[in-house]
Amino acid sequence: MRRIVVLTANSGTGSNLQALLDAQVSGFDGQIVGVIASSADAYGLVRAHEADVPREVLDYGAACAAGTPRARYEEDLARAVQRYSPDLIVLAGWMLSLGEPFLKYFRWRVIGLHPGLLPSKPGERVRLPDGSLADPLCGLAGENAVKALLASGQTYAGSTVHAVTGEVDAGPVIRRGLVKVRPDDTVATLYDRMKQTEHRIIVESVWELCRQGSTV
Ligand code: GRF
Repeated sequence: MRRIVVLTANSGTGSNLQALLDAQVSGFDGQIVGVIASSADAYGLVRAHEADVPREVLDYGAACAAGTPRARYEEDLARAVQRYSPDLIVLAGWMLSLGEPFLKYFRWRVIGLHPGLLPSKPGERVRLPDGSLADPLCGLAGENAVKALLASGQTYAGSTVHAVTGEVDAGPVIRRGLVKVRPDDTVATLYDRMKQTEHRIIVESVWELCRQGSTV
């Protein structure tokens, strides 16, 4: 059984964490052994509590207010994660980019979700079914990414599960999920369908990584 730690924040609703918790119930070959949030009001903590999963807060806002350097916060986070001895770390709604102070401990063991279609090679763009090229929406998160997508007039939206390497929204792609944009879509309706796709691809990705028993 592979040990999984999920990092989450208060920006979303923890729905991807919930998808993983639900998958675990239906015979997933991995176990979520801990959930860590960057603030106490992250809804993922409620979901973890309901699923009886150990959870904790490493308050980023409080750390900033106390003058803690970012690298130190990442080191503290790494120590907190290490206590769960994870095989895999999933960033599900986690909003802080993580660099070497964290990643050096978990090389190729961290995956993330981006609400845009990331290319397989740097500088390339994903070709959409209508032949046009997708904007990867790098650096944009949550509703801002969906808003930008709608404003661009792109025909398909989508999300990507990728390895986290330290370069924002750039790690090797593990899985993509495509969502057709409808003419009457609003940010809410489109994001809702994107989230449903995210739930599928994050579960499939984690499932596969657990089955392979290897790192990313
Ligand atoms: C997702 O849309 C993911 O792509 C982005 O943050 C969001 C988290 O959503 N990184 P949720 O909290 O899992 O509902």
